[in-house]
Amino acid sequence: MILIQTVEKLNEVLVRLRSNGKTIGFVPTMGAIHDGHIALIKKAKSENQVAVLSIFVNSLQFNNPDDLEKYPRDLEKDLLLVENYVDIVFAPSHKEIYPTEATEKYDFGELETVMEGVSRPGHFNGVAIVVKRLFDFVQPNKAYFGEKDFQQLTIIRKLVEQLKLDVTITACPTVREPNGLAMSSRNLRLSFAKRNIAAKVYGIIKRSQELETPVVKKIVDFVQTEVKKLEPIKLDYFAIVDGNTLQLVEFLNDTENIVACVAFYIGDVRLIDMVRFK
Ligand code: PAJ
Repeated sequence: MILIQTVEKLNEVLVRLRSNGKTIGFVPTMGAIHDGHIALIKKAKSENQVAVLSIFVNSLQFNNPDDLEKYPRDLEKDLLLVENYVDIVFAPSHKEIYPTEATEKYDFGELETVMEGVSRPGHFNGVAIVVKRLFDFVQPNKAYFGEKDFQQLTIIRKLVEQLKLDVTITACPTVREPNGLAMSSRNLRLSFAKRNIAAKVYGIIKRSQELETPVVKKIVDFVQTEVKKLEPIKLDYFAIVDGNTLQLVEFLNDTENIVACVAFYIGDVRLIDMVRFK
């Protein structure tokens, strides 16, 4: 494994590998590596000759300065966690990615007027800016994203389609702690007890699937009522949406691709998750 911190060096190494006909799999992350990231990296390595991991806390996608400041950062530890699985770690400074102020404006239409797009204004534009730049630097054959961040995954697919980028996007299922809590770098900010409470939200959504009703309002009411009983948790949204358009559905038989997306606060930590309904 090699650590690269500049775009120039990355380019030098990748040009050589590409000219030797090597295929490149790419996993962009913001670090604080956990088993969810590792699953993406392993998949990238199994499907490509070279696996590239980026670690870059992208300030542009944080709408909350406190969240950015408290985002866990530990490059040394991350390198130890990934060294057996990845060939290249690209961990640039802010200046490498943003030598001048970024002014790109993307428009993802209805995909960004719901859920995270409403709760975190500007977030997806920041994500799109960094992912597009990273794709330009790495020029991967395939790139790997987690389903946990379902709206992000959908928007990245849209970005690739809009800009006709030559990269295949592969989605990977959500990796969970034994108690069901979706792994997230932000879990590091939670005590063991709080992690167990946060895991209950996933349990409630799983239980809502057993209601055996096609009426989405009934499922949403159930989840909202049950989550309200969890003292330190504040639900931001629970939405059951068409997995292609991300628009709300009324009935589970409306379409063949339906997912539930959830966002909630536990103390000042905001977590998201998703569960496939169909
Ligand atoms: P980050 O939150 O570090 O996540 C990096 C990748 O890991 C994303 O594709 C995310 O969906 C995936 N991931 C996170 N938790 C997961 C889990 N429990 N199971 C499976 N996959 C999981 O998402 C970002 O960083 C950033 O927005 C980024 C795309 C890097 C742009 O800055």
